[in-house]
Order: sequence, then C-alpha cells, then structure tokens
Amino acid sequence: MSIDQVRAYFGFTKMPFGKALAPSALYKSHGHQEAVARIAFLVGEAAIGVVTGEVGSGKTVAARAAVAELEPSRHSIVYLPNPAVGARGLYAELVSRLGAEPRFHKAALIAQATSLLAAECSERGRRPVVLVDEAHLLDSSQLEELRLLTSSEMDSANQFALILIGQPLLRARLRLGSFAALEQRLALRYVVPPMSPEETAGYVSHHVKLAGRADTLFSDDAVARVHQAARGLPRAVNNLARQALVAAYAAKAAIVDDKAARSAVAEMSAE
Ligand SMILES: Nc1ncnc2c1ncn2[C@@H]1O[C@H](COP(=O)(O)OP(=O)(O)OP(=O)(O)O)[C@@H](O)[C@H]1O
Ligand SMILES: [Mg+2]
Repeated sequence: MSIDQVRAYFGFTKMPFGKALAPSALYKSHGHQEAVARIAFLVGEAAIGVVTGEVGSGKTVAARAAVAELEPSRHSIVYLPNPAVGARGLYAELVSRLGAEPRFHKAALIAQATSLLAAECSERGRRPVVLVDEAHLLDSSQLEELRLLTSSEMDSANQFALILIGQPLLRARLRLGSFAALEQRLALRYVVPPMSPEETAGYVSHHVKLAGRADTLFSDDAVARVHQAARGLPRAVNNLARQALVAAYAAKAAIVDDKAARSAVAEMSAE
C-alpha cells in the first residue's frame, strides 16, 4: 500500500495533514492567532519576548506566519532555526545573516553584531527581527551573550526585536537567577496552548478541505479520539489523522470512523 493509493482512494488532490502549508492556508486556532499577534507586537515594539509551547504545538508555524506578514522593506529578518551550533555560533550566524564576514575573536564578533544591527536601523531603515527557535537549547553562555546583546541595545537608540521560541523548559531556564537580567527585559511571555476539542475538529476538516474534499470524512467520535490521544497538539493530530486514513483505506471504509481512529492510536503508541 502506498500513500498515493490512499490519496486516490479518498479522492484527495494531495494527501492531507502534510506540513508544507502556505501561511495563508494555516488553521487559525486561538493559540495560533494569539502567538502570531504577540510576535507582531514584539516586532512593533522592538521588544524582547518568549514564546513557548509543547513539542508540536505550532510555535515554528506561528513564527513563520508572523514573519510572512511583515513588510520586507522595513524589516530585516534573522531566523536562527537551531542555536545548538557551537560557542561562536549565535553571533557568527547573526553577523553572516546580516551580510558580513564574522570576525574571529569573540569580543570583536559581539561588537560587530551590535553595530550591524544598529546599521540596519540607522542606514537602511530596517528594523532587525531576530528569532531564535529551539531556544531551550541555548546553553548558559549563549543566554549570557543574548543578555549582553540586549543590554547594548537598551543603552543606545538602536532597536531590534528578539523573539525566543522553545519548549516549556525555556521559561524555567530563564527564571533561574543568573538570567534574571534577561528575564526582566522580557516584554511578554506567551505559552501556545493546545487546541480545544472543537478546534481539533475544525483543524481536521480544514485539512480535509484543503485536500479537496468538502464533505465530512472523519466521524465525530474518530475526531474526539484523535484529539484526546494527540492532546490537541497539531503535529500529533496530523500523524494520527494520516494513520487513521490509512487504517480506513485498509478496511475499505468510506469514512474514517472510530475503529480506524482507534487502530491509528494503537499503532502510533506502539512505536
Ligand atoms: N495553525 C496551523 N495550521 C496548520 N497546521 C499547523 C498549524 N500549527 C501547526 N501545524 C502543523 O503542526 C506541525 C507542528 O507545528 P510546529 O512545527 O510549528 O510545532 P513546534 O511547536 O514548533 O514544534 P517543536 O517543539 O517540535 O519545534 C506543523 O508541521 C504543521 O503541520
Ligand atoms: Mg518548532
């Protein structure tokens, strides 16, 4: 059995519950919209903030959606997907994203990053927006570097937005005494909530519609089971819903009923 057979069986134009969605095709759950609005606020205020949420809750998707709405000529977006890139990594990455050759020595590198950020504003009229994803992976020295970067920003007129995105652990780490200075500078902390049962139902039908089917394909009890097993987390919903489609296909069922959902849950939890 191939995914293409499953796709053809249900008459989908493409397999639903994929991850490559355009920002305009995203499901606008409450948490998603709130996260996007908070990120936009931080950008507008040139402030520092933290967005956390469980694995697969939609943090990165929300960050991408927020960035997509920014006027490109007025912002300079630096998205750092993974800070676990070594000791020099963060600043070196920042500097090269801003179009310069990173200096070798750490102190020079930090000064270079600071002045490049300043030049974006003063010379190009663009506000730098730095997004650090998977920020729970920042080690202590990287957090200290961020503190330095943000305090130099505070002391001058130069403004940039810094958004730290990561798993719930990130908030706990920032609360530790040594990062109090950074923690105190946070304009907001937002926790992306899981979807409610109603939202999961809306999410599932949204994906089914995007795949080209306007009718109801998942039974209510199947959706309820998927929601419960996935705890309302979009990535887990995707995985279970795809698996349930496969189970329904294997059973030659016309819709995804609770039996298919149950078998998907059993299969996913057996992994
Ligand atoms: N609003 C949404 N509309 C449609 N799909 C979504 C939405 N939010 C999340 N998803 C789906 O859920 C998947 C997981 O989302 P995302 O990668 O943003 O989670 P995350 O919180 O960044 O997870 P991690 O902690 O693993 O980085 C996405 O690949 C996407 O398929
Ligand atoms: Mg992510």
